[in-house]
Amino acid sequence: MNDPVDPAAPVDPVRAWRRLADASVLLDGFHALKHALRFGAEVSVAVTADRAAALALADELAPDVREWLDGLLTEVPAATYQGLVPRPHPTAVAALAVRPSRATNLAALAHTPRTAPVVVLDNPRNLGNAGAVIRLAAGFGATGVVTTGTLDPWHPTVVRGGAGLHFATAVERLEVAELPPGPLFALDPEGDDIRGLKLPDDAVLAFGSERSGLSPELRDRADHLLALPMRPQVSSYNLATSVAMTLYHWSATGGAPTASQASRPVS
Ligand SMILES: C[S@@+](CC[C@H](N)C(=O)[O-])C[C@H]1O[C@@H](n2cnc3c(N)ncnc32)[C@H](O)[C@@H]1O
Repeated sequence: MNDPVDPAAPVDPVRAWRRLADASVLLDGFHALKHALRFGAEVSVAVTADRAAALALADELAPDVREWLDGLLTEVPAATYQGLVPRPHPTAVAALAVRPSRATNLAALAHTPRTAPVVVLDNPRNLGNAGAVIRLAAGFGATGVVTTGTLDPWHPTVVRGGAGLHFATAVERLEVAELPPGPLFALDPEGDDIRGLKLPDDAVLAFGSERSGLSPELRDRADHLLALPMRPQVSSYNLATSVAMTLYHWSATGGAPTASQASRPVS
């Protein structure tokens, strides 16, 4: 017969981790956990190999989430921490969070009027690029990041590249035919110079694959084709840097909250 379960007994974080890991989002390192908490993630379990060091980091870099971390973080032996994560992080902090529901994200993406663009990555191939774009979208307060094609925008490597900022914007995979409403601006070196245009807040900004650029399907749907300034002998920019320049252009021509308007820092 099993021993009776004491409901008041403390939860064993390692058992909880093993039970939840497959269905959860891994927040790898102090900064990912900090960002996820700031943007409302539901964190189920958080461990560290050095609680004092993690709380000292919070005192120094993120006093706004210090109390949450104090309540959440359980210290485990270094070997236990290393056994829970694929690649130990220098801060020796890791946590599991609940992935936001697809329905909630789709509602955020479809909501109009929109106050900030949606970024579309058309069949991206590189997980690091996707993570960097999600971090950019969070920093600029974009409504969301949509990917088309087979790459999973919630893949652990993308989440790692996004530094926990998947919780600050709506991240989903969709078909080209299902893209959110709004004027579709597709970025392509053959387009019109972006500097002649003010991007509207409800823009859908689409970027092509690292390998083959924009798909024919996306080109067909585009309302405008826009080019970033580039010398003739250079063929193209990296995908994430193209997103950065385009979001910067949107912000510099009137969009995006200023740092003083933003309610929570993205650092
Ligand atoms: C690495 S590039 C793709 C290069 C690809 N070999 C091609 O044939 O287009 C990835 C994406 O970044 C954007 N991009 C890169 N350089 C650009 C530029 N100068 N102007 C506009 N978009 C650009 C485009 O959306 C492009 O599809």
